[in-house]
Amino acid sequence: MTKQTWNPCSILSPVPAVLVTVRGKNGEENVLTIGWAGTICTIPAMVSISVRKERYSYELLKESGEFVINLTTEALVRATDYCGVRSGRDEDKFAAMELHKEKASKVQAPLIKESPVNIECQVEQVIELGSHDLFIARVVAVDVDEKVIDEKGRLDLGKAHLIAYAHGSYYSLGKQLGTFGYTVKKAPERKSVKSVKKRTEKEPVKGAMTEPEKKSAKTGVKTARAARSTKKSAK
Ligand SMILES: Cc1cc2nc3c(=O)[nH]c(=O)nc-3n(C[C@H](O)[C@H](O)[C@H](O)COP(=O)(O)O)c2cc1C
Repeated sequence: MTKQTWNPCSILSPVPAVLVTVRGKNGEENVLTIGWAGTICTIPAMVSISVRKERYSYELLKESGEFVINLTTEALVRATDYCGVRSGRDEDKFAAMELHKEKASKVQAPLIKESPVNIECQVEQVIELGSHDLFIARVVAVDVDEKVIDEKGRLDLGKAHLIAYAHGSYYSLGKQLGTFGYTVKKAPERKSVKSVKKRTEKEPVKGAMTEPEKKSAKTGVKTARAARSTKKSAK
């Protein structure tokens, strides 16, 4: 592979394109699209968003110190783009995109009803970086649509049809290739020759999870492949 070396640019991809809702101290509510958003700490749960000073939302954010990150889905892709190219200075973007507001539990900014997961945040620090100011915030509540919670009470974001943003384009997430730690998960005892044969025939993508592994990731039961790899590494 031949590589070209480019000048520094914001190329990290994919990123989430989220809808961020804000409410100013006089009750003005707005929504804007943010691509420069990230998880920055697990305990305490913290996130960041980078916002240009010229955004209408910037002042609302600064004065309230609160915002909500609303995850975006295939059904919300038009709203995601629109809220990123139109300003709340000129129009009500909630009305234009038929986004319904819901009351948040810990912050004043509204939740977007159509979004499956809303992350309520309180700003702890603002760092001026250059074009953008980085808002570092603590997550104070997370609101999850029951449609993306499975029968065991676990979050199943596969049902949410989330979207991502990469270098100017919106993408749906596509098929699941693995789950956290699937490459080292222990396998169950081999049950029958038939089940082993089925797995080999069905293996779809090199390195991706096999069907039994996907099942095992859900149930916690070990797969034969992981058992073999454990045996090998023990040698
Ligand atoms: C996909 C996408 C990602 C964006 N990411 C950011 C971002 O991270 N930070 C930012 O300040 N503006 C970002 N924008 C631009 C703002 O969303 C846009 O300027 C918006 O109109 C600001 O709205 P407001 O004036 O109502 O606050 C993005 C726009 C799009 C379409």
